[in-house]
This record gives sequence, structure tokens and C-alpha cells, in this order.
Amino acid sequence: MHEATLRGRVAELLAASDRSNVPPFMVMDVMSAADRIEAVGGHVIHMEVGQPAAPAPKTAIAAARAALEGGRIDYTSALGIPSLRDRIARHYRDTYGCAVDPGRIVVTTGSSGAFILAFLAMFESGDRVAVTVPGYPPYRHILKALGCEPVLIETSGDTRHALTGEALLAAHGKSPLKGVLVGSPANPTGTMMSREALTDLMKAAQSAGVRFISDEIYHGLDYAFPAVTAAELSEHALVINSFSKYFCMTGWRVGWMVVPEPLARPIERLQQNLAISVPTLSQIAAEAAFDGREEMEAIKRGYVENRRILIEGLPKAGLTKFLPADGAFYLYADVSDFTSDSFEFARRMLEEAHVAATPGVDFDPFHGKNFIRFSYARSADDMREAVARIARWLG
Ligand SMILES: Cc1ncc(COP(=O)(O)O)c(C=O)c1O
Repeated sequence: MHEATLRGRVAELLAASDRSNVPPFMVMDVMSAADRIEAVGGHVIHMEVGQPAAPAPKTAIAAARAALEGGRIDYTSALGIPSLRDRIARHYRDTYGCAVDPGRIVVTTGSSGAFILAFLAMFESGDRVAVTVPGYPPYRHILKALGCEPVLIETSGDTRHALTGEALLAAHGKSPLKGVLVGSPANPTGTMMSREALTDLMKAAQSAGVRFISDEIYHGLDYAFPAVTAAELSEHALVINSFSKYFCMTGWRVGWMVVPEPLARPIERLQQNLAISVPTLSQIAAEAAFDGREEMEAIKRGYVENRRILIEGLPKAGLTKFLPADGAFYLYADVSDFTSDSFEFARRMLEEAHVAATPGVDFDPFHGKNFIRFSYARSADDMREAVARIARWLG
């Protein structure tokens, strides 16, 4: 066979599918650049990564250790260890005063694993699903990889970045939606939906027959007002949560869903086939994490202090425009007075001030070039140092 033809055949054999062609996460590029600076002795203040600096609660680590010493780590049932599912149901009663049947709880490999199960169980290939912009990029990338069509709806600071029922119905009117996904507290904005805003949106979704998914991964990290769970407002909503953020267990890869009752069995079948079960050690640790709340509340008090330092310090340093930092550990700042290219701004801030933050382009293809996301999940000293460095750099 002719060499060029052979090369063509091989290229065809090895070509990645179109659905796998999702964009990378630019924050990873910022992290690599920060690594390079640190490799030659620089000291970078890390505000780019959305993960707690603290380890898992001591109760979780002790439970995992005991389980390791106890012998075999077997598969669990696909929906999760029954006692963990019970404990999560109790969490809804204790935290929100809301009764949830443990039969509706599904343990997942982080909320990331939950998105895959939820989207597969709720949508057909080709279905249109609304997500908000700015927003967490994997929402739209996972939908695309699964053959669904993400429909981007822009939100603004005027509504604290809450998607309104009116905006949802307008998008649905243009071309019908099958579902909508929102997160509160939100990444990257750190803003939260009030009870009224969430109720209004869920009513609109229900009236239009649009399925509702609520990403509640930052629940527990609410500062402006208490976060409301969609599980309390409707048994038809699918709620996603995780041990990654409040419980500081990112690498343990364990999360959960509260699913509408008719979806529990289909999701169980999907999980059986896709993963068999969630890592057992992580499930054991997660159950014990609920006993470590005091430790986690102390960490949350640290975020409260970090938030105060930034809200007071950034305007003095020159960054005066940012959204209400209601929850999570993010502050989303408008840097359009300085640049029309936030990627370049973040690159220079890292190179010249050794402060790493994430450019908004990751989260918002329309206006992200005007924004920078700061994560304030590290120490108060780091926050003070970051403010001082930014002040010197901009001043
Ligand atoms: C809004 C949001 N949802 C979901 C995730 C995924 O988290 P995990 O898979 O660790 O639960 C993240 C991670 O940063 C996030 O910010």
C-alpha cells in the first residue's frame, strides 16, 4: 500500500471521536505556570485552584484507617453503602428540616460522577439542556460529550447571577429545553440564589416541563444567607452534592445525589454498569465525615475571615468591581478597567506579582475576558499577602 494512504488509514483508526473534543480547563495552564515559578524558588500565592487547603476531617481519616486495617475492601451496592445513604438522608433532616427517603439517595464518585449518571438518566442524545454563563465549564462539556446540546443562558450581577424563571421560559420559547442545571452557591461568581429566586425558577421549569438539576456542592459554605436545597422545594428536582468542598475531601472522589424516586432504579442500573460502585474506602470515610462538623465549621470560619480580608483589601489594592461573595470560596472581579484580556492579565499577575488566579474565559465565553476568579480557600496570611502584592503591582 502507498505510504501516504497507509498513514491516512492509521490516522483514521486512531482519531478521537468528535464528542471527545471538549475544551481543556485553562486553570490547569495557570497551575503549570505557577509550578514553573516555584521550581526556580519563587513563592506563589495560590488563588487559582478551587479546592480547600485543609485535609479531610479527622473522623473520616480515622474511619478509613480502621477499615484498611480491618481487611478486605469489597464492592458496595451500586447506590452506595446503606448506612451512608441513611446518614445523608439524616443530613437533610438536620440541616434543612427536610425529609428525604434514603431510597432516593445515590452515592457517586464526586459530583462529577453524579453529572454523568444524572444526564444519562434524564436526557436523550440531542436534548437541549440550559446551563448558566458564567458557570462551571464541565457542565457544558459533559453534556456535549454525552451528545446533549448545552444551551448557554447569560446571567448578570443584577440578579446575583441567578437565572430567572422569565429568562428560562424565554429560552424555552425559542427552542424547547429538556432540562436546566443551576448551582448555588455558584462557581465562579460565589453568588447565591435566594429562596424566592430558586422557587421562582423551579416553578417556571415545572410549568414548562423542564427537568431541574441543582448543583449544591458549595452548600455549607454560605455567608450571606442560608443556602436553600431544591430537595426541600420539590421531589421532582435532582440534587447533586459532594464531600469535596465543605468536607475538604476532593481527592476522595465521593459525592451524592437526591434523585426523583422513578429515577433511582435506572440510575442504579447505570451505576452497576458504568462503575459497579463508588470506592468503598471513600464511602466509609464520607460517612464518618459527618461526625467531623466542628472541625469543618472552624475551617469555614477561616473562609469567613479570608472573605473579609479580600472584600476590604481588594478595593484598596485597586480592584473595586466585584460581585457579592455570598458563598463558596470565590470572588469574581471585573478587571475591565485594566485589560480586555483577562488571560493576559492573570499571566502577568502571576509572572510579576506571583499571585495565581483564574481568568474568567474558562467560565464565560462571552464576557470572561473581563473577569478574574480568586479562590480564597487557603490561609488568612496568604490573603493578606495577596492583597499587598496586588496593591504593589497595580499601584
Ligand atoms: C460547581 C462545581 N460543581 C462540581 C464540581 C466537581 O466537584 P467534585 O467532582 O469534586 O465533587 C466542582 C469542582 O470544582 C464545582 O466547582
